[in-house]
Amino acid sequence: MRTPDPFTLIIFGGTGDLSHRKLFPALYKLFLQQRLPQRFKVLGLGRNEISDKVFREQLTHSLSDDTSGSSEREQIQFFLQHVHFQQLDMSHADDFQHLKQRVHSFDKEVRDNLLFYVATAPSFFSSVARELTALGLHKEDVGNQWRRIIFEKPFGNDLESARQLNNELLACFKENQIYRIDHYLGKESVQNMLAFRLANGLFKPLWNRQFIHHIELTAAESLGVEDRGAYYDPSGAMRDMVQNHLLQLLAIIAMEPPSHFDSTSIRDEKVKVLKSLRPITETEIPTHTVRGQYIASTIRGERVPGYRTEPDVPESSSTETYIALKAYIDNERWQDVPFYIRTGKRLPTRVTEVVIHFNGPGHQIFNDIDTQSMGGNQLVLRIQPDEGVLLKFGLKVPGAGYQIAPVGMDFHYSDLSESELPEAYERLILDALIGDSTLFSRADAVEASWAFVDPIIHYWNTHSESKLYGYPAGTWGPPESLDLFEETEEDWRYPCKNLSSDDSYCEL
Ligand code: BG6
Repeated sequence: MRTPDPFTLIIFGGTGDLSHRKLFPALYKLFLQQRLPQRFKVLGLGRNEISDKVFREQLTHSLSDDTSGSSEREQIQFFLQHVHFQQLDMSHADDFQHLKQRVHSFDKEVRDNLLFYVATAPSFFSSVARELTALGLHKEDVGNQWRRIIFEKPFGNDLESARQLNNELLACFKENQIYRIDHYLGKESVQNMLAFRLANGLFKPLWNRQFIHHIELTAAESLGVEDRGAYYDPSGAMRDMVQNHLLQLLAIIAMEPPSHFDSTSIRDEKVKVLKSLRPITETEIPTHTVRGQYIASTIRGERVPGYRTEPDVPESSSTETYIALKAYIDNERWQDVPFYIRTGKRLPTRVTEVVIHFNGPGHQIFNDIDTQSMGGNQLVLRIQPDEGVLLKFGLKVPGAGYQIAPVGMDFHYSDLSESELPEAYERLILDALIGDSTLFSRADAVEASWAFVDPIIHYWNTHSESKLYGYPAGTWGPPESLDLFEETEEDWRYPCKNLSSDDSYCEL
């Protein structure tokens, strides 16, 4: 991977939680791995006037802990010499002028290439883009100079707002300058799904409706909404996880192999999948989707609150913290293959995985008793934690007769490399710095995903009779999600058992 040109990275929301928890640690790791050029600057922006010195002190706390030794502390200080702070109130045009002056005070080499990172509330996305454009900071008019801008999620809260946002941004920056973050695409194991699919002749011929019976996509979280109630309650699991992360995973799993491994070819194929998602009609919504909300329960002896008593969540909230749905892709490769998608908070464990269920043998020569415990062949692409690939198939149990038992070939990413897998933000920031947008969402893909989820959300909001099930925290969500499956199909894969001792499911 090539080293980026000298640059200045300007972070709106530089003192925010994301910057401290993810962005600066990612930059620091890139610095340690010598992935950054000799010359670069990072300019954090925030509302309160603080000096570079105070900002660096704050970051020292975020980048170190009690175990950091003196050489590590020294490295942190070397890194922080590249970091500066500028006060900026996003509603003050004058402050943008000061920003421009500050950037101009930097050496030409680093100020030629600007990467803006907008890690603020989405309501500021358009105005930031407009102010930067008004000052000409978006223009790439000298030699190889580049100007790019990254936006954090959420990207719109429905199709209309996403379209409007895209239009407003595209009136300022060109599409190839805009990098919309979906941090799932930065996960090493998600990139591996591309490699797995496209580098192996073994699976290529099997990757279609002829050999695959159905596909499961799970993103389970064990944590609740924590202190994010104010953001989460107007969103819910469908907007927070399905519209972006899970549909991006689905697109990678289901896309046609691109003719070249480049950003345009890959993103063209992904968007075709998203546009081929069969709309779930009003009459299908009650049977093809299941919503849930976690209720209080006891997990390993500890009382856990229900969603409605979490901070900043209204007592009568009908926001889903769990969603399961059945989707179809209307194209030659996937016609009538169900894709089961589920995500939820306060489930028994944190796991994200894709499970490919293959068709059974056409004619079964072993009898039912012999094969009872085997289940179908499954390929499990584990995205997190314990990133890896598991292939499950049946083998004969040694001894008399032909009893078939399930066995697995299990690859763990940790066996491949001594070093830790890089954090998603490391990869994404580096890609933006070298101008590779493959792992970022394009405008048309964002809109196509909204076009799929929007009618479902609209239906829930306008049909008070549509069901929202309570599931005790620590369980796998409403058992009604099993009704999505055909009777003859295996249902969800459960990487671990329910943890809650409270079995009282209810309809909220
Ligand atoms: C974020 C959502 O995009 O992804 C959060 O807003 C969610 O609600 C998070 O917890 C999950 O990310 P990860 O990387 O922990 O799976």
